[in-house]
Parts: sequence; structure tokens; C-alpha cells
Amino acid sequence: MNADRWRMGFHIMPPTGWLNDPNGLCHFRGVYHVFFQYSPTWPEPHAPRGWGHATSCDLVTWEQHGMAIAPELPEEASGAYSGSAAIVPDAASDGGDLMRLYYTGNVKLPGNYDYIHAGREANEIRVESEDGFTLSPKQVFMRNADYPSVCSCHVRDPKVWRQDGVWWMLLGARDLFDKGMALIYRSDDGLAWTLHRIVRPTEAFGFMWECPDRVALDGAEYLSICPQGMADHAWSGGLRDVAGYIPLAAGERLIDAETVDPDLFERWDSGFDFYAPQTFVDNAGRTILIGWMGMPEAPYTSAPAGMTWCHCLTVPRVLSRRADGGIAQVPVPELAELRGEPVGLAANPRAALGEHRADVVVEGVEGPFTLTLDGVLEVSWSGGELVLRFLDAVPGAQQGLGAGRTERRVPLERLDTLRVLVDSSAVEVFANDGARALATRWFPVAENLTVSCAGTCAHAVVYPMGDGMRGTYA
Ligand code: FRU
Repeated sequence: MNADRWRMGFHIMPPTGWLNDPNGLCHFRGVYHVFFQYSPTWPEPHAPRGWGHATSCDLVTWEQHGMAIAPELPEEASGAYSGSAAIVPDAASDGGDLMRLYYTGNVKLPGNYDYIHAGREANEIRVESEDGFTLSPKQVFMRNADYPSVCSCHVRDPKVWRQDGVWWMLLGARDLFDKGMALIYRSDDGLAWTLHRIVRPTEAFGFMWECPDRVALDGAEYLSICPQGMADHAWSGGLRDVAGYIPLAAGERLIDAETVDPDLFERWDSGFDFYAPQTFVDNAGRTILIGWMGMPEAPYTSAPAGMTWCHCLTVPRVLSRRADGGIAQVPVPELAELRGEPVGLAANPRAALGEHRADVVVEGVEGPFTLTLDGVLEVSWSGGELVLRFLDAVPGAQQGLGAGRTERRVPLERLDTLRVLVDSSAVEVFANDGARALATRWFPVAENLTVSCAGTCAHAVVYPMGDGMRGTYA
């Protein structure tokens, strides 16, 4: 893996095999824990997913710990699916904090089922850890019969948080009529749960909601969801599943909400590769989001021929409330640790040192502006639209550096700042201090990244970026 040309220097990827959703994100006893959906034996078919595990003290350098939660129980025979972490203060035997992980055991029964109304089990499971590594025996605490009778077999992805001295749990669900919704449970001890309410959209919005999350910023709350069945919405770029959030009314709390307004839904990221994000609050009080830099059912590939691993996570992004009530996302400032000496950016392509990694910073943009990577991947703004475009794309074919990716557009009244992180085969674009984000994978072939820009701006530099993952895969 160390020699893999598309291995990343500051994005978490699987040591081998397949990765999807980030799981169990937390800052526990001074260590950042990132678990993720993991199938080490991919591309072998039908390898059930478990939880892979990576840790960091600085969000820049990471250690990989292999499979933390392997699907072993009959209740998780088809995969230990997504879930979250809760930190219980002072509850460990040494008087320190206790880590509790909640996730869904997925079971597909053999037979002739539709796997929507029959043939699938969704079991909620809990494990605990005093050190973040050694896990207690698994406890199954909810089964299909325990969910409201309006639920189909699709119920999953518990997200647990504490509010008002009570533990709350969100579950994503599909009802018997193919409508997406979220269940909210409450608990005094984090062990025994009772249904608090069902949250539905005011108008149908997708057939299933995956990976629900609650975000609170400056006293304002948001429901983050991944609705499935969005292909007909113009803004979905034809994708079946998208990730976004719905702001609640001023002063409204999710635990009091009966409905949410899908007209207010905003995508977290309008690029090609972003799904199933999860947030957590770190010890400094920052709300940090990490997304899966992949997409279910995408018409483009993230594993061109010969690759032995598939997908990565986004860098950790710090969230803040925008003046217009939406959410801004910026890379954690810690990543600046990896920056080398900046070089000025100009219309002539500039090679970034440090192989194929760079942090591009553009400020004070006036009017139309274009940034081009390797002469092929273009980020441009003009006429009220931010566009991410592969110039070598062949429509309908998995060709070119984007391996089938073509073009993404997002409305943006004016462009002010641009920040672009390039990490070998991952690119994350942030416009106007993180007001818009676009993530994409690509598979560049040049040894060194070249960057050029056209347009007027006050300041434009490229920092070559170091390799935070050196040694991670040794
Ligand atoms: C989202 C998802 C989750 C599920 C997990 C399985 O990408 O489908 O709903 O728990 O992936 O890997």
C-alpha cells in the first residue's frame, strides 16, 4: 500500500479492501477514534461488512487497527452496519470515561424474500470499551418486533447523543409505504430505550432515510439525513441517494419536532463523492463532520482496474452556522501542519512538490475565475454557478482521469474564496469559507500535480502537502 500511486497522505482509506460510512466518531480520553464500514476481503463478492478502526491524536497522522467489530453473531450475519459512539462521563471501572458504540446488525435470511417487508432483520447492538480498543461482549437491545408497526424491515444506523440529561437515539427507517422517516428513542441510562416520536417530512421525501444525525450549532438544530430515491430532483445530479441537512425553525429542537420541511434540504456536498456523513463534538467543543467519499449506485467508478482498495473518507471538516442559517464546512486547521513552502499561483501551470498533494488557497476573487489541476480537472465560477468539470470526460464511459465523472454544478451568487485540497486520488473543494463543498475522486497519472489559475484575485498560493500517512500501512 505504501507504494500505491493513489494512496492518500491525509485522507483515511482502508488498509486493503473496501470502506464506506464513517462510524463511531468520537474524541475519547484524548484520542480521536474513527471507525468505518470495512470489508477487508473486497473485491471478493458478498464479504459482510464490519467496523474498521483508525485513531489519531492530531487529526493529521493516523494509526490503523484492523477490524474492531467483526460480524460474528447470528444477529449481524450479513454485516455489522453503521452506528455511532457515545462517551459516558466517569462510567468506566477506573473512574474515567466509557466509550459506548451502537450499531445495526443486518441479517438477510436465505430464501425468496423482497427484503423490504420480509426476509431482513435489523438488530440494534451495543458494545462498550474502557480504553477504546478492547470491547465488551455485544448486547442486542432492539429487534424488528420492537420498532413501530409502521416500519418495514429497513431500520438502521443509530446515532446517540445527550441532551437535557437524557440519552437520545435517532434511527433511519423506511415505512411500509416506502416513505423515509426517522425514529427518535429516549433513555435514562443509554441501555433501555423507549420510542419518543417519529419524525416525518411535511411531504414525502425519499423511500428510506439512512444515517440520520442531529447537528447543533450556536443553539440552532439541524436534521442530517441520507434520503434514498432522489434521482428525479434536478439538484441530485441523477444520483439515487444524497446526503444533506434540514434546518429546524429558530429555537426548535429535534426532540420536539414532529415534522421537518424537505423544501429546506441542502446537500452537504455537491461533488461526485460524498455520502453517509457523521458528526461529533470534540473535547475543544468543535462540531466535526467526516463523510464517506463514495456514493452508492454511482455510474462512475472508484476502483479502476487493478486497484486493491476502494474509497476513502473526507478530511475532518469543522462546522459552523452560516449567516443565512445554513452550515459552512472547513478542513480542520490541524491539516496546515502538513504544508510546505507556498508557491504563487499564476496562469502558467505550477508544479506542486510533494508528489501529488497540495493545499490551494485563493482569496479576494473578483469576477469569473478558473482553477485547473493537471490541465484536466477544472473548478470554475461564472454567472452565479460553481462548476467542477473533468475536461477529458467521455459521456457514458468510465474513461478519463475522472473514471466516468463528468460535471457538477452548484448555484453560488459570487465567488470570494476558494480552498482546494488535493491528496493523490482525492480532491475536496471549499468555496466562500466553506459555504459550498464539492468532493471528488480522480485517478491522475502525472507524477507531480500541476495547478494553474485564470481570473482576478487578491492572493493565490499552492502549498505542497506532506504525507501524514507515512508508515500507516507499513
Ligand atoms: C449507507 C449504508 C448504511 C448502512 C451501511 C452498510 O451507506 O447503506 O445505511 O448501515 O451503509 O454498509
